[in-house]
Amino acid sequence: MGPMMNSSAEPLRVRKTALKVLMGSLVISGLLGIGALLAGEFSELQVKVLLSSLTVSGGSILALACAAALERGRFSEPARVGLGLAILATVLMLLALWPEIDNQYFWKVIGSAVVGAVALALLSLLELATVAGRFARITIANRVASAVLAGLILLLIWFEPSGDGMFRAIAIASIVVTVLAVATPVLHYVSRLEANPGVPATLPSNRGLGERPPTKTEPVSLAQPPPVLHLRSKFAQIHEHWKPHIVAELNGQSVRLARVLGTFDWHKHDQEDEFFLVLEGTLTVEFRSGQVTLQTGDALVVPRGVEHRPSAETEARILLFEPSTTLNTGDAESEFTLRELPRI
Ligand code: NI
Repeated sequence: MGPMMNSSAEPLRVRKTALKVLMGSLVISGLLGIGALLAGEFSELQVKVLLSSLTVSGGSILALACAAALERGRFSEPARVGLGLAILATVLMLLALWPEIDNQYFWKVIGSAVVGAVALALLSLLELATVAGRFARITIANRVASAVLAGLILLLIWFEPSGDGMFRAIAIASIVVTVLAVATPVLHYVSRLEANPGVPATLPSNRGLGERPPTKTEPVSLAQPPPVLHLRSKFAQIHEHWKPHIVAELNGQSVRLARVLGTFDWHKHDQEDEFFLVLEGTLTVEFRSGQVTLQTGDALVVPRGVEHRPSAETEARILLFEPSTTLNTGDAESEFTLRELPRI
């Protein structure tokens, strides 16, 4: 077997959906624009459709930015919130355009959702940068500056303070956010060049092992040592058989634990090799060419494309190591198939 699609599957779906929506809405905006230029003027309906497709385009761009962070597993929670706000803002905006809700508070809520979504989308992109240790404070600076600017704009939206002090403050905060936003990719580039002259500095887009250029980087400092994974005690959180649970992810692969009992389905994984390690018990893996038996401490690599069927007469506890995209039943959909794996 070989568990499931991990965290990177969901953001990937989000990204694909957002891209499709973006392309669709851009095409509609473009066609309308051309139509209006040819016809000489916009009808009210055309204006509404144009504004709607621009709204949807904007929402998809924000969603794409947030999905990029989700995909890389950085800044995940805020990015998730940003994604939610982008969708919320888009829906509210469409509501405001079509039934023409004209309520001051409704517009304030829309404005607030837009501010939150834009701030989190910007940070999601900036958090993708990998900067050398001595530049690390720019991450904090980005967060603080964006939070201050968003906070000021929210104050303006809700309390409409008089006087130009507020506008000055917003202008200053905007400048700081912009300067930092421009500086971040530059520092990313500089850090990459210093670490590995000659290798083009690109924003890494994927955590997959093969896609990362071999780079030397400055030592990364952690506030505390990485957590120890107490595998034996993790099994106490697993209550079903043949249901892999993710305990760690690294280099685009995931480490999964499963309690197994009985016979699984015949299947193969077309793209992924699969690693099994028996932590406790006995696991039999049948192949079309014969079967092997693994005892505690034994491991096995099932090469991609090879049909296999694991089974255990008495409960066995196993560790699987495979790409995060691996589906547990491979090409054979059944009641065993799991598309979302729990994390423990
Ligand atoms: Ni498998």
